[in-house]
Amino acid sequence: MLDLFADSDPWEEPLAPGAVILRRFALARAEALFQAIDAVAKISPFRHMVTPGGYTMSVAMTNCGALGWTTNERGYLYSPIDPLTQHPWPAMPAAFSALCHEAAVAAGYPHFQPDACLVNRYAPGAKLSLHQDKDEPDLGAPIVSVSLGLPAVFQFGGLRRNDPLKRLMLEHGDVVVWGGESRLFYHGIQPLKPGVHPLAGEYRYNLTFRQASDSE
Ligand code: SIN
Ligand code: FE2
Repeated sequence: MLDLFADSDPWEEPLAPGAVILRRFALARAEALFQAIDAVAKISPFRHMVTPGGYTMSVAMTNCGALGWTTNERGYLYSPIDPLTQHPWPAMPAAFSALCHEAAVAAGYPHFQPDACLVNRYAPGAKLSLHQDKDEPDLGAPIVSVSLGLPAVFQFGGLRRNDPLKRLMLEHGDVVVWGGESRLFYHGIQPLKPGVHPLAGEYRYNLTFRQASDSE
């Protein structure tokens, strides 16, 4: 069968003001990224965090970098210590930093310096309800989000929860970058459909890079 995209380079799709999808941007490096995910999860295992409201999240999560996103009874926070291991989160793997930097440059954010990477793992049925990424003190820094493994439907709205939603399939290797005017836009992931991916098995993974400390 003729596959029009078989040897094509990544391509860009505008998403919103300040936001772009870099289709297949991470594809050529996926195996190295999976090795790095395994190395991170050996130190800080995937776990299902419990929201302050007492709800166990369907997405399994871990982090790497100086700070990690986590929950406790009082709210959501970035912590230098993994509450599960009581040790610092693993360092950001070089394969992660390099990819994130290149994606940020391609999207027009050459000065982005992430100090946190949340690693999400979706099993069939797992979802992330519509939310804003607003736990970061410096909203001048964008979000860089890398999709690996099984495809999922990404919802991207506006500043208000009930603004109209775009629904886009995010596939293995796709990178979404949002910042500027769309930095606080609502977004989410619809329940994952079952499937098998040659590198990721029955899962979808997502790497979300953030600047979680204040840049003075
Ligand atoms: C997130 O909103 O933090 C994750 C989005 C995704 O899994 O693509
Ligand atoms: Fe998010």
